[in-house]
Amino acid sequence: MIMGRRKGPAELILVTLLRGQGALELFSARAGNFLSGLALGLLDDSALVRLTISSYDRRGTYNAQQIRDWEVDWFAADLPSPPARLLVGAAGSGREVAHLEEQGYEVFAFEPASRYVQNANQTSRLGRPMLEGSYDDLLDQSSLLQQRLSAERSFDGILLGWGSITHVPGQDRRIAMFKKLRLLCPRGPLLASFCLAQGRTQPGLSRARNAGLRVARLLGGSGDDPSMDGISGSHGYAHWFTDEELQELAAESGYRLKNQVLATAFPYPHATFLPAQDDSLEQGK
Ligand SMILES: C[S@@+](CC[C@H](N)C(=O)[O-])C[C@H]1O[C@@H](n2cnc3c(N)ncnc32)[C@H](O)[C@@H]1O
Repeated sequence: MIMGRRKGPAELILVTLLRGQGALELFSARAGNFLSGLALGLLDDSALVRLTISSYDRRGTYNAQQIRDWEVDWFAADLPSPPARLLVGAAGSGREVAHLEEQGYEVFAFEPASRYVQNANQTSRLGRPMLEGSYDDLLDQSSLLQQRLSAERSFDGILLGWGSITHVPGQDRRIAMFKKLRLLCPRGPLLASFCLAQGRTQPGLSRARNAGLRVARLLGGSGDDPSMDGISGSHGYAHWFTDEELQELAAESGYRLKNQVLATAFPYPHATFLPAQDDSLEQGK
């Protein structure tokens, strides 16, 4: 350790470098907020979907973090018992899939970032190859994913985990996607996790972001104020849900929420959607 009453050259250099680094950090945060506002104001929903998928794809593999305790508890409480057939969307590099297969489930998984899919399939720890495709592809008759899944018999449960529905822009798009999933799994639960508007991480309306939105308007973009939306270079688009939106999503797509949203789980609040007409699901698995 360097000690003394006068500033030595090492201290002077370090203080100067750290000040510079602090200024760069501030600049980078402001530039990020500005770009977020600009992109939200200029890009349509399909472009936001593409931007998000390519942000993930650039990384090559999704970090294989362990399954968290809240996920283990949630799956055990709300998924039908193994060996049920599960559909896992936005499966990343297969973190949840590997866990669910270990529990004895038969898992069909899909993921749009092709490098994640390659990575998951190359490690060959999954019982069945992961399919490549996005939530939008579920609705596209010409997509390979849609064709493959339509040829399967019904699933017993669906997992859209680790915040992935937060990446889907537009309530109409989300409702259409949930309706399609309801057809693929007519009697089973749909487990989804997401960012929640009253959580700590909802996007603040910074001045830089507002400036980005203003520039977008000048350039002919929409005048909407997407206060519950954000964009980052590493994760792409994200939406922070309100309770009302979740209720509406359920009601409009033939589901109902099983319980209150579990808002305290970190990092993702989550909820279980049950088919609205099948009350037997609540009485046992
Ligand atoms: C936070 S990662 C979670 C990955 C995985 N579920 C896990 O827990 O390890 C979010 C995933 O959502 C995927 N994703 C983003 N936009 C999507 C979309 N429109 N349709 C389907 N998946 C999407 C990303 O490619 C990424 O793999």
